Amino acid sequence: MTIRVGIVGTGGISRAHQRAYTQVGGFEIVAVCDIIKSKANEAADRWGVPRKHVFTSYNKMLEMDEIDTVSVCTYNQGHRRPAVAALNAGKHVFCEKPMAATLPDATAMVRAAKASGKILQIGIHSTFNPRLQFAKKVIDSGLLGDIYYSESTGGSRRRNPGRTFIYKKTAGAGAIVDVGVYNMHDSLYAMGYPKPVRVSAITEDYISQQDPQFKGIMDVEEFGVAWVRFDNGSVMVFKISWVVHQDSLGPSFCLGKEAGISLNGPVIYADAYTNDLKKLVKSEGLTAEANPPEGMTTIKFSGFPEIDVWQAQITAFREAVKADAPSPILPEGVLLTNVIMDGIFRSHAAGKEVAVRVPEI
Ligand SMILES: NC(=O)c1ccc[n+]([C@@H]2O[C@H](COP(=O)([O-])OP(=O)(O)OC[C@H]3O[C@@H](n4cnc5c(N)ncnc54)[C@H](O)[C@@H]3O)[C@@H](O)[C@H]2O)c1
Repeated sequence: MTIRVGIVGTGGISRAHQRAYTQVGGFEIVAVCDIIKSKANEAADRWGVPRKHVFTSYNKMLEMDEIDTVSVCTYNQGHRRPAVAALNAGKHVFCEKPMAATLPDATAMVRAAKASGKILQIGIHSTFNPRLQFAKKVIDSGLLGDIYYSESTGGSRRRNPGRTFIYKKTAGAGAIVDVGVYNMHDSLYAMGYPKPVRVSAITEDYISQQDPQFKGIMDVEEFGVAWVRFDNGSVMVFKISWVVHQDSLGPSFCLGKEAGISLNGPVIYADAYTNDLKKLVKSEGLTAEANPPEGMTTIKFSGFPEIDVWQAQITAFREAVKADAPSPILPEGVLLTNVIMDGIFRSHAAGKEVAVRVPEI
């Protein structure tokens, strides 16, 4: 079975979609759409799509029965409409991250996926990193005990992407939705998607506004930090930057009552290298180094397969489509990132902590 793909938005990231579809195999790009006709034509010529299947309206493209799945590669503010239209037209959707720029948009997308019974996978490729997958298995096994605190961190010292990423009109928001969605989703996924209930946050754009390239035109944030309270009583501190006066905002980690884990290694900080952990390490084909070997110890792991996370996410999408089964990245889980982000922007505007609520789907 070849999965026939229509691509909406033929800008920068659509090339990565095409590359991954080709590398993974089992896909054929049969139609492209961009509001800028010349861009759509160029993409079609590059990918061998006939000109009769080049569109400037995704609604027209969705009339093609020969399309099974749709790649949504428009800027963040343009995810909802083509994704919902494609799901309503009975197509599966692979949509770029973030799911959407706003909570109402993300909610509409998850509702459309549920109502149509079609797959909606969001392109958060970092979640497929084998190190994160192992960290999740450690957490799921209960080896850390209850998690009462975590930090979810990412970003860069100077990497303002410019282009359509710096305008609210196209991107919706800045560093928080652009790169923050990766580490925020990875932490929530690893912890089993705890339900957020309160958020206190600030955002900042000061350093970019001193740069003549961005001054007065960029209207999104370059930095954000939030204190997120979950209904299980635990708290997560979220930190992200495009631009900041630090090399790094630190690692992402989770503190459990029995042990702690740094997600990036991963590294486990425990009072013993237990037999249960030894069993898990063996079953995963990994090697562990506990130092010291007994008592309060720091356990580092090696032997993770070196994989291409882009190919991994597209493979997962292909298998979900073939089996007509849910993707491993559930849209209901990704929706929690939009719930928290919505809380971050409301909290910043209000100057105080705000309540957040996960919408009914
Ligand atoms: N996964 C990653 O590593 C990664 C990297 C970069 C960007 N992205 C994401 O990909 C998305 C797009 O980013 P980009 O860099 O390709 O942006 P881009 O601005 O280069 O491309 C977006 C394209 O969408 C087109 N478009 C806009 N509205 C449309 C509509 N209604 N119908 C058809 N086409 C439409 C635009 O004309 C443009 O060609 C963003 O959501 C971004 O967050 C992901």
